[in-house]
Parts: sequence; C-alpha cells; structure tokens
Amino acid sequence: MDIRLWHQILSPYEQAVDELMMKFRYMKREYQERGQYCPIEHVIGRVKSISSIMEKMQKKNVPEERMEEEIEDIAGIRIICQFVEDISRIADEIGRRSDLEVLEIKDYIRNQKDSGYRSYHLVVRYSVETIDGRKDINVEIQIRTMAMDFWATVEHSLQYKYKGRIPERVSSRLSKAANAIISLDDEMSSVREDIMDAQLSSQLRYNLIEDIVGSIENLYRMASRREVEKIQEEFYRIYQQGNIEDLKQYHDQLDLIAQAYKAQKNRQGDGIKQVAE
Ligand code: GTP
Ligand code: MG
Repeated sequence: MDIRLWHQILSPYEQAVDELMMKFRYMKREYQERGQYCPIEHVIGRVKSISSIMEKMQKKNVPEERMEEEIEDIAGIRIICQFVEDISRIADEIGRRSDLEVLEIKDYIRNQKDSGYRSYHLVVRYSVETIDGRKDINVEIQIRTMAMDFWATVEHSLQYKYKGRIPERVSSRLSKAANAIISLDDEMSSVREDIMDAQLSSQLRYNLIEDIVGSIENLYRMASRREVEKIQEEFYRIYQQGNIEDLKQYHDQLDLIAQAYKAQKNRQGDGIKQVAE
C-alpha cells in the first residue's frame, strides 16, 4: 500500500474514537446530572498504531484489501467500571443505542482466557460522516472493572517484555494474581450497595450546591442586594452544618423564593407594558 494512504485510511477511525469517547462521557454526565449511579468510571480510546496493524496483518495473513474488515480493533474504546455488575448494564445500554450495531460479543468474564484475562468485548459497527460521505467502520469496545484492567495492563507489559513467552515462575504468579482479582471484584460487589449509596449522596450534595449557587446568582438580578445577602448567609450557615436534608429543604425553599421573584418581575413587566400602551 502507498505509505501516503495510511493516514487517510485511519482518519475516520480517529473520528470514530473521538466521537464515541465523547458519547460515553456524555452518558456518564447524564447519569450524574440526574443524580443516578453511573456504571461508567472512565472511558479511554485509541486508534491502533500503524506498526501494530502491520504486525497483526502479518501474523494473521491478512491481505491489504481485507485489512479494514479483518482487523476489528483498529478503533478501540475501553470502558472501565467499578463493579462486575456494571459491565452488563453498560453492555445493555450499548445494545439499545441506535448509533451502534453490535456485530459480535466475546465474554471473557464467563469464559476467562487461559492467561487469566477477563474482560467483556463487543465489536460494533459505527458510522462516521466525512467529507467523502458516510463510512461504516468496526470498533472494538472492551468493558472491564478497574481491577480487571489493572491485571490486563500488567500482564500486557509482561507479554511485551518476554515477547509472548512469559517464564513459568512469572506466569504462575500472574495466575495467582488473576484469582486475587476475582476475589477482589467479589468483595467489592458485596459492599456495592454501600459504596453506591456513599457516591450517590456525595453526587447529590454536589448537584444541590451547584443548583443553589446558580439560583442565588440569579436572584442577584431580581431581588435587592440586601435580601440576597441574607439568603446567601443562610446558605453558608446550612452548608457549614453539613446536613444534607437541611440543604435539600433549603434548595426547595430557594426554588419557591425564586419563583415568587420571577412572578413579581413579570407583573412589573406587564405594568410597564400597560403604561407604555
Ligand atoms: P486478536 O488477534 O487480538 O484480535 O484476537 P481475537 O480476535 O481473538 O480478539 P480477542 O477478543 O481475544 O482480544 C482482543 C483484545 O483483547 C486484544 O487486543 C487485547 O487488548 C485484549 N486481550 C485478549 N487477550 C488478552 C490477554 O490474554 N491479556 C491481555 N493483557 N489482553 C488480552
Ligand atoms: Mg480481535
């Protein structure tokens, strides 16, 4: 292949990775804004390097013209979550999306690899719009817990170091570590409810404070400075006491106050209009 074509071929893959990372990050944001538990911890993505693509083509005897069909992971997205339970939730979410068509699923959690590798893989079809028109491409999405990711990252470095022939003394350690990861994920699942509760209340607190500060900022445009300063003092007092229920109550009260000011302002606006007429 003409060397100059590489970047042109890979460009839509770059676009797909960028777009999908953004979409999954927005998914996370949506959960957070609604104060719901988010099964996504973080998302990363990459386009396979030219050298890895060439290496894989050689290893798998893939002819140049079949590259885009046969190398399914030129575009790769990795979604990391906290708990094993989150993985199926994300997979379901992906299955429901109209912009992704699931072509293939490999469940290396139910069917752990001999190496000890665990992860949930999907190959999906995704369309990007380019200046040459629409292009459908394959994207590999890997979903795994933070613990699984830790193990896979370490094992991958060792595979690289030993060129795929990890010595027995190291591989037996890795295998033990893989079992420890299973126990760790199990332990974490058993306190999942508690961890989720803790994270949700910290998110709720964050959302409440964002809302309250926004409302008070708005009030500065509608009420007198002295009135808003009083409201603001009350907020700091409740904030310092640190009781989330009080904060919630204050938030709702503030909503009513803001509505009242808005109604008053509208009435004044009508009055001015009438005078003008
Ligand atoms: P590939 O030739 O790698 O595409 O094999 P495959 O088509 O059978 O795909 P598979 O789903 O098994 O693996 C795809 C990707 O999963 C790899 O590129 C790695 O990122 C990851 N992976 C698979 N097996 C292992 C493993 O044993 N260790 C680590 N660290 N990663 C793995
Ligand atoms: Mg593959």
